[in-house]
Amino acid sequence: MWFSGGSSRSRCAEISARFWNSPHRLTRGAEAPGYYLGAYTWHKAAAQYLDESEQVNSILDELLDIEGDPMKVFYAGLSDALAKEGAIVRPAEQDGRVASRALLRSWPGGGDFALNPHDDDSQCADPQMADFERRGVVGRSVVALNICLENGMAGRLAYWNIQPDAESKSRLGLSITGSPYPLASLDGHETKFIEVNTGDIYVFNGAHVHAVEPSADNTHARTTLAAMMGFIDDHTVVTRS
Ligand SMILES: [Fe+2]
Repeated sequence: MWFSGGSSRSRCAEISARFWNSPHRLTRGAEAPGYYLGAYTWHKAAAQYLDESEQVNSILDELLDIEGDPMKVFYAGLSDALAKEGAIVRPAEQDGRVASRALLRSWPGGGDFALNPHDDDSQCADPQMADFERRGVVGRSVVALNICLENGMAGRLAYWNIQPDAESKSRLGLSITGSPYPLASLDGHETKFIEVNTGDIYVFNGAHVHAVEPSADNTHARTTLAAMMGFIDDHTVVTRS
C-alpha cells in the first residue's frame, strides 16, 4: 500500500535534519552499512534489544516531537481502522519493557544495492528472540512500514515476487537472518522497481525479498523513518523497529 506524499516535505526535512544533527546517530556495520538512530532487532538477543530500546525511546520521543509526526499520524489511522474490527495496535513488550518506537536509517549508495536483498520475516524466528512478544508474528504476515524522509538521487525499492520457503532459506543459510539473498537465487522471479519520493508512506509484506537501490551518484542517501508490525493474535497488532 502506497501513500504518495503522505507526509509534507517540510515535515520530512525537519525530521531528517534532526536525524543528521543528532549526537545519538550511529553507524551500522558491514551487514547493512549506513547510519541509524533507534534500536533494531536483527540478529540480536531480546534483552539487549530491550535495553537499547529503553535508552533510545526518550531520544526518539524528542526527535519526533513535531506537529503531525507522520508515524504517529499513521498509527492513529491504523488504530481507528483496527478498532472497527475489535483489534488494537501497540508497541511489542516484555516484562513491562517496550520495543523501540521507530528506527531512523539512511543507506548511502554503493555496489549493486545500498541495502542488499533480504526478507524481514526470518529474523522473527531467531531463537535469541524466543522470549520476546513479537515472535508471535511468526507464521503471520510481517508488515514493513517506511516513511521516506529524503531520497536525493532516487534509489528505488526493489521488490521480488517471492516469499522464500523454509527449505530455501535453510539451503542459503538465511533461516534466521533473511539476508543477503544472492542475486542468482532470485533469477526468474518477477521484480518490481518502485520509485520512492520524499513524503511517501508505504507498507508492504516484509516476507517478500526486497532491497534498496543505490543512489544514482553514490553520494546521496535515502533516509527513512521505519518500523515493523504484525498480528500476534486475532486482536493485537504489535509494532517494533
Ligand atoms: Fe526490510
